Amino acid sequence: MLRISLVSLMAALLVASAPALAADLEKGKEINGTCAACHSDNGQGGKRGEYPRIAGQQVKYIESQLRNFRARSRINIPMFPYTQERELSDEDIKDIAAYLSGIELDTKMPTYTGQEDALTRLLMAEKVMIIPRAEGNLANGEAIFQKQCAACHGKTGRGRGMFPMLVGQYTNYLQRQVDLYLKGDRPHDEEGVVGVLNGLKAQDIQDILAYLTAIQEPKE
Ligand code: HEC
Ligand code: HEC
Repeated sequence: MLRISLVSLMAALLVASAPALAADLEKGKEINGTCAACHSDNGQGGKRGEYPRIAGQQVKYIESQLRNFRARSRINIPMFPYTQERELSDEDIKDIAAYLSGIELDTKMPTYTGQEDALTRLLMAEKVMIIPRAEGNLANGEAIFQKQCAACHGKTGRGRGMFPMLVGQYTNYLQRQVDLYLKGDRPHDEEGVVGVLNGLKAQDIQDILAYLTAIQEPKE
């Protein structure tokens, strides 16, 4: 039941927040060299969402997905060679997850002061990631998201702990994952989530995805 699983998830989050050995960010950066071929240097993903954004994602979530890929409980053919045990140890998973989750991408173009040199301007622009607005009924998307998704994915859609950030992710990637969940192809440890998604019409999902693209800029 949703209520019971939420409680156990909260307990898991508390355990997860206990101090752990510090991750090695330099090592993480080095490993990212391999990942960048598909997910790009700054973890922004690519090919319009064929490769998802992984920068700024929740660290626990990145770790759990890498372990799932390695165990093949989440099937990912392109990534398979990179997540073999000898390629990606537990230690590596910690390091790369910490490195990626620490990358902050801007949600609007920088305002240049005119003092920056060309390289600085380039580096600033490279850290911008704006998902194009998706079509949909924003009011309906907001109502459903806040009622049925926010408890786990956060009111601003940025996730927490093992719950992934959804805002700032490619719309078609998110749609693909919803389809996988609905087909039962992507295993989900939360029986509640499948229930939540199952209860929605295709248009509702579209409206939620549209809403997510509309709330990318954090309200200051
Ligand atoms: C050959 C291309 C390729 C390489 C190299 C690659 N990935 Fe991926 N990765 C993918 C694809 C494709 C997906 C999306 C699979 C899907 O649609 O379910 C993905 C998904 C992910 C996800 C899940 C994102 C989410 O929101 O659930 C994470 C985390 C990830 N990759 C991390 C990495 C890391 C870390 C590396 C380097 C060690 C890496 N990837 C290397 C292609 C690649
Ligand atoms: C009870 C908690 C919970 C609720 C409520 C919930 N989710 Fe999730 N969601 C999760 C978890 C946990 C995952 C990661 C699952 C995994 O490990 O594969 C996830 C993953 C996702 C993903 C894939 C993200 C990625 O990067 O691959 C999408 C899309 C998603 N949820 C959409 C939704 C939508 C839309 C709603 C509301 C209708 C919703 N979720 C409600 C817990 C929840």
